[in-house]
Amino acid sequence: MKFLVLNGPNLNMLGIREPEIYGHETYDDLVERTRAACEALGAEAVFFQSNSEGELVTAIQNAYFDQVDGIILNPAAYTHTSVALLDALKAVGIPAVEVHISDVASREDFRQVSYVRAACVRTIAGQGLDGYRQAAEYLAALLGGVIGE
Ligand code: DQA
Repeated sequence: MKFLVLNGPNLNMLGIREPEIYGHETYDDLVERTRAACEALGAEAVFFQSNSEGELVTAIQNAYFDQVDGIILNPAAYTHTSVALLDALKAVGIPAVEVHISDVASREDFRQVSYVRAACVRTIAGQGLDGYRQAAEYLAALLGGVIGE
């Protein structure tokens, strides 16, 4: 099993940006923790972070050609704006889990819309960095036929 762990804008600033919302752990911590969680599931994890919408779209397209089995996606602010990311997920048809570190449901009105959600098998929010582990477990169970969509 191969998972793409895709993170959008400003997530490279974890540990610095609004620690009262996103915590003190860094993007490197996110990578380390998620890689360990994926390895424990017997999955290889490939990581990509970008502040550019187009690069995120290209990474989703490349996942198709690289035979990625599942996508763990935190589109960050593009969650609330990007039809392009939604279309890319629909184009590749790879099971994707939407992750948010913070509890977006209890935040500003403009964060209540998620364009990508319509193309995701599950959304995990408000679990901190553990949300990425939970997403990996969900994808492994789904791909292993343990659970259905
Ligand atoms: C976020 C929530 C988004 O609303 C925000 O724009 C982010 C991070 C989260 O992980 O909680 O950058 O996706």
